[in-house]
Amino acid sequence: MTTATRPLIAPSILAADFARLGEEVDAIVQAGADWIHLDVMDGHFVPNISFGPQIVKALRPRTKLPFDVHLMIEPVDPYLEAFAKAGADHILIHIEAGPHAHRSLQQIRALGAKPGIVLCPATPPEAISEIMDMVDVILVMTVNPGFGGQKFLASQLPKISRLRDMITKSGRDIRLAVDGGIDPTTAPQATAAGADVLIAGSAIYAQPDYKAAIEALRPTPAG
Ligand code: DX5
Ligand code: ZN
Repeated sequence: MTTATRPLIAPSILAADFARLGEEVDAIVQAGADWIHLDVMDGHFVPNISFGPQIVKALRPRTKLPFDVHLMIEPVDPYLEAFAKAGADHILIHIEAGPHAHRSLQQIRALGAKPGIVLCPATPPEAISEIMDMVDVILVMTVNPGFGGQKFLASQLPKISRLRDMITKSGRDIRLAVDGGIDPTTAPQATAAGADVLIAGSAIYAQPDYKAAIEALRPTPAG
């Protein structure tokens, strides 16, 4: 990808005001979001608990934008159907969440959702080389999953570049997303390395003007 390509922006509602979640989704839709990122945490795979399929379902009527559901849960298979039925467009699982990612990705596709795979900072790109043909989204964590507001791990940039090469070689249309510590300083680093989807929680929801915050993550036009 060239730097001229416009990255998609996927605000994470983890940083939203949970008492006004519906309005917070409306606000980022109005502000120009491309996808809505929903972080599901189980207090087991990650040391935090967020929300489950009921919240996905409750928010679904708010927008037609794709719901990008990031499952930080283990096991994952017993819950895939519930998230698909709740209206998830993309269902992302962690490669570290169990030995049978292949089966989980097959199941997600069979449920009519787009399968995605997520890599924690300690996981090398090659861990997903045998399932590249099964996914529509690859997500590189640039923090350890579990919490918003953490510092971007620049050590992950070479991994983004390697995955971009792997995607190019695959010849498949796969989105390469980055999640964690994305702000106006780190966003250009991630896109230069090859990411084409930027997920951001605090850099959008902690700002007074969501539209300006989203625009601040996009590359400035050349010239
Ligand atoms: C972290 C989540 C992220 C989180 C990002 O486990 O996967 O989506 O919301 O938050 P920020 O952008 O604040 O790092
Ligand atoms: Zn996430």
